[in-house]
Amino acid sequence: MLIGNPAVELPEPPLASGPLSLRQWGEADVRSLVEACADPLTARYTSVPIPYTPEDARRFISFGRSPTALPLAVVSADDSSQVLGAVGLHAVSLTRRRSEIGYWTAPWARNQGVAQMALELLSSWALGPLGLERLDLYVEPENDGSQRVAERAGYKRGALVRSGIALRGRRYDVVRFTLLR
Ligand SMILES: CC(C)(COP(=O)(O)OP(=O)(O)OC[C@H]1O[C@@H](n2cnc3c(N)ncnc32)[C@H](O)[C@@H]1OP(=O)(O)O)[C@@H](O)C(=O)NCCC(=O)NCCS
Repeated sequence: MLIGNPAVELPEPPLASGPLSLRQWGEADVRSLVEACADPLTARYTSVPIPYTPEDARRFISFGRSPTALPLAVVSADDSSQVLGAVGLHAVSLTRRRSEIGYWTAPWARNQGVAQMALELLSSWALGPLGLERLDLYVEPENDGSQRVAERAGYKRGALVRSGIALRGRRYDVVRFTLLR
């Protein structure tokens, strides 16, 4: 345990809404992760390694979760082995009551509201039972689809943060979107 910064625990009961639910990643998800992360859009706008190997997936499954990170698989409510995407908290500070949040949707599950529903579900838990007061979401200016997802989920557009994120050794400007309790 980190002194002064308690670890973020899994939602209990697990989060679910309509056609999807959120769960921990497991060994059985290696193939879905490799297939989803081979998508050029996911590779471009997230920090996944390129190329994304089964070893990368295993490392993410084993070590992605930490006291300050809660990566969750977005899966079908009817069949939890069917991965639809990812949503997660990172840089969580329970003492400062804030976190960053991010997501991607697998290419086979896009344009069905998955990202918006998953973002709303995790955000309302984080700002509700978890007790946070502020969530920040960083989106590149040309990532129009993700900006629309953020705004539809209630996030407010904020400042352009110069060189705000680093992806594979290169820094990118990002727009900060924020949701307050
Ligand atoms: C951006 C991204 C997360 C969007 O995921 P998604 O699950 O397809 O998003 P949604 O389905 O919630 O919204 C996408 C579109 O589908 C539409 N849609 C929502 N529900 C729908 C439904 N039932 N039927 C048809 N269309 C629907 C939305 O209106 C939206 O339309 P828009 O393009 O005009 O905004 C996805 O393209 C992605 O993974 N990109 C690469 C990674 C990335 O950019 N991550 C974010 C980094 S900040």
